[in-house]
Amino acid sequence: MSAAQNIYDNPVFFDGYRKLRENPDSANILLEKPALFELSPDLTGKIVLDLGCGYGKNCAEFYRRGAKSVVGVDISEKMLEVAKSENHGIRFERLDMNDLSALKGKFDVIFSSLAAHYIEDFDKFAEAVSGSLNSGGYFIFSQEHPLTTAPVKGASWAKDADGNADHYILTDYGNTGERNTSWIVDSVIKYHRTFSEILNALINAGLAIEKLIEPIPSREIISRLPGYAKDLHKPSFLLARARKY
Ligand SMILES: C[S@@+](CC[C@H](N)C(=O)[O-])C[C@H]1O[C@@H](n2cnc3c(N)ncnc32)[C@H](O)[C@@H]1O
Repeated sequence: MSAAQNIYDNPVFFDGYRKLRENPDSANILLEKPALFELSPDLTGKIVLDLGCGYGKNCAEFYRRGAKSVVGVDISEKMLEVAKSENHGIRFERLDMNDLSALKGKFDVIFSSLAAHYIEDFDKFAEAVSGSLNSGGYFIFSQEHPLTTAPVKGASWAKDADGNADHYILTDYGNTGERNTSWIVDSVIKYHRTFSEILNALINAGLAIEKLIEPIPSREIISRLPGYAKDLHKPSFLLARARKY
């Protein structure tokens, strides 16, 4: 295993993250998951890989949608422990996404949900993903939006006189690389890349970009949960579907 950070095995982070994910109004549930599955092709009979599978909830959904086989991999032993205990019959393995050389076989669809911003070398990652796809296969992934990962001091908002978010403070967009952020705990390492760097990595790896989504909350979501109006100023997520020909 490489020296990649494994923050999800930090007990304080693990408990904090679990609480966030239990919230039915989380951005993951309201914005990211619907967009991820909107990008999904028909999974009937498909061989599927999930990179950074976490608790394995998406893996279970891939099966429910007809996948023939599903493998979930993650760097975190604690996340995999939950995945194995909650999803019997699915294969879960410990693997660092920074080095996919140990992956065996080829896949029809490779998913990666909200883990790509933890990868240091996205060009190498895209090459490895492309090499693990069957011809005609799909790579579908989501990550924190590049406007979110940009500020070296972390994402922040200018407030209006009433203390509501007025606009996002964008800095450091072109200053790419490692970000040492505070999210649940201090010193969470993520990587910032520009939009074009992300897309060019996919293109250079022989993947044709078919569709992008930057999820925007519906009016219903904003009227029920006004805090989501911030996402009209700056999306939280970037998602892509790319295809190997
Ligand atoms: C935000 S969670 C998302 C989990 C799951 N994909 C989902 O959407 O519910 C990010 C996951 O990526 C995993 N991860 C982070 N860095 C990784 C790496 N280098 N290799 C493999 N998994 C990694 C974490 O352990 C964690 O389970």
